Amino acid sequence: MLEKAYYRSFQAVFNIGARCLYWRRPIEVSGTGSTGRIPELLRQEKVNRAMIVTGPSVGKKLAPRITAALEEAGIGYVMFAEVEANPSVDTVEKIRDLYVDNGCDGFIAIGGGSPMDAAKAAATRVVRPGKTLDRMAGLLRVGKKLPPFIAVPTTAGTGSETTIAAVITDTATHHKYALMDLHLVPKYAVLDPEMTRGLPPKITGTTGMDALTHAVEAYVCWTYNTKESLRCAEEATVDIFRYLERAYRDGNDMEARTKMLIASNKAGFAFTRAGVGNVHAIAHTLGGLYNTPHGLANAVILPIVLEDYGEAVYPKLARLAELTGTTASGTEKEKAEAFIREIRAMNARMEIPTGFDFIQEKDIPQMITWALKEANPTYPVPVVYNRERCEKVIRRVMAGT
Ligand SMILES: [Fe+2]
Repeated sequence: MLEKAYYRSFQAVFNIGARCLYWRRPIEVSGTGSTGRIPELLRQEKVNRAMIVTGPSVGKKLAPRITAALEEAGIGYVMFAEVEANPSVDTVEKIRDLYVDNGCDGFIAIGGGSPMDAAKAAATRVVRPGKTLDRMAGLLRVGKKLPPFIAVPTTAGTGSETTIAAVITDTATHHKYALMDLHLVPKYAVLDPEMTRGLPPKITGTTGMDALTHAVEAYVCWTYNTKESLRCAEEATVDIFRYLERAYRDGNDMEARTKMLIASNKAGFAFTRAGVGNVHAIAHTLGGLYNTPHGLANAVILPIVLEDYGEAVYPKLARLAELTGTTASGTEKEKAEAFIREIRAMNARMEIPTGFDFIQEKDIPQMITWALKEANPTYPVPVVYNRERCEKVIRRVMAGT
């Protein structure tokens, strides 16, 4: 009880403070072919040598269209194309060393969440050479402007191109932690649907469910929300319900791809302002321990946690049920339950499992500790978990019920 009172007091005070902060959003450059404008953006920022950060697949398939544009414009670049899923401290340090050794003066992060997280974290190390990443973990601990930063999402899910967060995994302990600071918001977000064309169905589905989790977790939080973040969460949820499965079924459906990129961006803004919650806190433990892709973890955990929250989230979920056209009749409870059922049905149609039987019994106490530490007091969760309740949810994720 005392702990819960402390968390709620912290959140109430933080909410007052947050309203005084300057919540910058990235400058959006969007539309088909908008990556062609990257040289112009770099020139505006007086960048002579850009550090491109991406993963192996995007590095081969999609980065060349950007490097070709840079070469044509006579702008130098260095590329690191080895960012792994759930990027590690070691990877971040390698990027930072390359950046410094080659005299780079700006970042281009291309990819899903991992390259953006790794690039943001490397940028913090560039401006904070004397401060290790773990000492910048948590809220507002970077405190220094980053070099010019262009984010180019290749999935519609993480919203990293608009967020204050970079999630990194400690190489030695496998602990996943987040750096959260307003300085981590990229200067530019280049939303080019061509960069998501043909993304495999499995990745389209799970990353899209990550975006849905951002929107829903932000929407159901008990404080921090503003009119704008609520509107963004609602609009994102509606469009994800409408377009995600179309993009999943047909990778070349460019209307669906465009709508999903915008929805992911709105959901990213919603959770930047209003926070995520216990779904993400538990999902991060799976990423750290078993390398479970982030979107997949969220997709599986989201309906279980929403069910567990019960009446605390009925009014908000009922509203989302109405807006998405899931159901317009019944009590708040019935509408909320229909909304959760629809999330489960979307998962099933996209062949996302109902649980993770690979979770090991011996890891559960550690998962609970990490999840509670991440969620409290920072996230304004609608229901504060204690160890017992968190364990109950993790066991449901294990059993897939
Ligand atoms: Fe996420």
